Amino acid sequence: MKIGIASDHGGFELKQQLKQRFSKLDYTIVDFGNNTYDSEDDYPDFVIPLAKSVANGDVERGIAVCGSGVGASIAANKVTGARAALITDHFAAHQGVEDDNMNIICLGGRITGVETAFELVQAFLNARFSYGERHVRRLEKADPLGRISPD
Ligand code: RB5
Repeated sequence: MKIGIASDHGGFELKQQLKQRFSKLDYTIVDFGNNTYDSEDDYPDFVIPLAKSVANGDVERGIAVCGSGVGASIAANKVTGARAALITDHFAAHQGVEDDNMNIICLGGRITGVETAFELVQAFLNARFSYGERHVRRLEKADPLGRISPD
């Protein structure tokens, strides 16, 4: 499986650790940066290119890391076709794929330790969307081609 990974400075160390670990397994890793630690960098500069790559199918899944995982999640979900969520527990890591077709896992580099993050990403990558009728219906309601404007 070809997967993409991206982080700002808040997630840089965790990104490097995950990249090293998953490179040793049966994955091709595309690193969308940042490639060096830069305390002034901004997560959208790396997360948006990752989300576009996931959405257009260049990579199958994405891992986005910032300090909390919140900014990465907000940014990734701006891209149509990206379904990103901040994940901190094992159940959501796989059920988010099975029921909600999550294709980008967001992690907090200042929140989640490397061992837990490794297991969460494994659960995410091993999970598959169920294509259950009710799950497809819910996604169609929540994932229109366009954005909802505030009143
Ligand atoms: C960067 O300092 C930090 O704000 C960012 O990594 C992230 O936590 C935002 O959600």
